[in-house]
Amino acid sequence: DWTMAAYRDEAIARIREQVGEGRVICGLSGGVDSSVAAVLIHEAIGDRLTCVFVDHGLMRQDEARQVVDLFRGHYNIPLVHVDASDTFLAALEGVTDPETKRKTIGRLFIDVFEAEARKIAADGKGPPEFLAQGTLYPDVIESVSFMGGPSVTIKSHHNVGGLPERMNLKLVEPLRELFKDEVRALGRELGLPEAFVGRHPFPGPGLAIRCPGAISREKLDILRKADAIYLDEIRKAGLYDAIWQAFAVLLPVQSVGVMGDGRTYDFVLALRAVTSVDGMTADFYPFDMTFLSRTATRIINEVKGVNRVVYDVTSKPPGTIEWE
Ligand code: XMP
Repeated sequence: DWTMAAYRDEAIARIREQVGEGRVICGLSGGVDSSVAAVLIHEAIGDRLTCVFVDHGLMRQDEARQVVDLFRGHYNIPLVHVDASDTFLAALEGVTDPETKRKTIGRLFIDVFEAEARKIAADGKGPPEFLAQGTLYPDVIESVSFMGGPSVTIKSHHNVGGLPERMNLKLVEPLRELFKDEVRALGRELGLPEAFVGRHPFPGPGLAIRCPGAISREKLDILRKADAIYLDEIRKAGLYDAIWQAFAVLLPVQSVGVMGDGRTYDFVLALRAVTSVDGMTADFYPFDMTFLSRTATRIINEVKGVNRVVYDVTSKPPGTIEWE
């Protein structure tokens, strides 16, 4: 795309001009926005960029490894991978209120990120002067409740609180003029794999808000396996790109079932899939019954701990896309 190629060159020139000989740190979330921002900045200033990936242990199956492989392996971008899952799971123990989950995760994220930023500042290569963020145009114009719903502060997770002031960092926000589809086009221009650029949105608090009630390592493991099967079936059916977001939700409910000669008493899993333009409103996706029954059978056969699968037929409004 000619326009995006020109835009990329212009954006690189602007980053070079802003940053000069300075160093930049960038928080990676695994999402499209922060990834595109990081790759763009790396093209502009090379290894004077250091990325920090705070892994809260609430990612989907294989996702953390994919982020590390892409950045370290494919792009050779300096990346600090912080496995903070123990810290996050300990802090979330017994927390059932969705808002408290979000706040706990947001607060810890800032703490962990700041600790890493201070280590980078003390690594002897000169303190960073800049913090990069994948802020998009819609985030700029509607800085309060872009995602809608009572519980959502935009990207509360990627927002590093008062860190820029505390560490005297200036912001680099190379995506500030772009909408999501333009960020995807820029990502393609920068050579990010299609499977990465076209990914469904994933919330900052991750699987914690897809496990209503208290979370546990065991529940997260069940949810990850079921979610991976669901997405696999969606891809195999060629439906991934027709859907805005699809995911599984592990309900805090057990139900009775039969398996062979025995009675089971396992969790209920809800499947969610919606179409949407911007996440503000959404329609549930009208799968055909053969898809749903095939997927449900596979999940129940392959995932220990689930014996019943239901499909969520609620649109937004009145529902939200996520369950929490
Ligand atoms: P809801 O559930 O409010 O979601 O209909 C709308 C869109 O926002 C995403 N979402 C979040 N994203 N932090 C995020 O970064 C959050 O706390 C959060 N909550 C919801 C959701 O996945 C959907 O795309």
